[in-house]
Amino acid sequence: MLEVRDLRVAYGKIEAVKGISFTVDPGQVVTLIGGNGAGKTTTLRTLSGLLTPTAGEVIFEGEPIHSLPAHEIVRRGLAHSPEGRHVFPRMTVQENLDLGAFSRKDGAKDIAEDFDRSLDLFPVLRDRRTQVAGTLSGGEQQMLAMARALMSRPRLLMLDEPSMGLSPIMMQRILATVAELKARGTTILLVEQNAQAALGLADSAHVIETGRIVLSGTGPELLGNDSVRKAYLGEE
Ligand SMILES: Nc1ncnc2c1ncn2[C@@H]1O[C@H](COP(=O)(O)OP(=O)(O)O)[C@@H](O)[C@H]1O
Ligand SMILES: [Mg+2]
Repeated sequence: MLEVRDLRVAYGKIEAVKGISFTVDPGQVVTLIGGNGAGKTTTLRTLSGLLTPTAGEVIFEGEPIHSLPAHEIVRRGLAHSPEGRHVFPRMTVQENLDLGAFSRKDGAKDIAEDFDRSLDLFPVLRDRRTQVAGTLSGGEQQMLAMARALMSRPRLLMLDEPSMGLSPIMMQRILATVAELKARGTTILLVEQNAQAALGLADSAHVIETGRIVLSGTGPELLGNDSVRKAYLGEE
């Protein structure tokens, strides 16, 4: 479904992503793990069309997308729930969700169906439909960011640090929702600081260090890998 080939991305003279390749197959959860500044967010922002690669290719559903504008990439079915959530704080929950559906050309009925499906996943948002997003808790804003991404009816959902900065209970709820999305068959590219949880969900996983993939395997393989356990799972 997604093929990233030797992707390179720079901020000015500084290369943050130095030739990354991986694939995502339909129905899979693929995770990128790595420390702060490894290049995970840069990779996702490039896949979404928010950054332009200096080299490499991104093939989505058989077509190159790395030169397309962000709105066209969303329209093709690649949705992004960004690090730091970035909901529109002065808009209501409903308005934020309506914006998530802006790229769709199908009818109001399908959009209403997805609206219901998104809110079934996050019932608390249904109760807060008319509340402005800036007054939601961090966990609720994360739910809104994910629900907003789902409103584009994505073929592939990218989640960047969905549990970051949340209380342990809220973190568990968000990660349980990612598991629920996986169970529904959603294809997901996940970046998540809770490496234990991310690897537990992942069909395939890649460790990124300073802009390069240094290790790849299935979730269970990396969970059992000594260097991963030491570096990312907090073991001595
Ligand atoms: N807007 C930016 N301008 C310049 N450098 C940036 C910018 N965003 C990120 N970087 C740098 O790019 C590298 C990768 O960052 P990032 O992709 O955010 O890593 P991660 O998401 O893995 O923590 C880091 O060295 C970071 O300092
Ligand atoms: Mg990041």
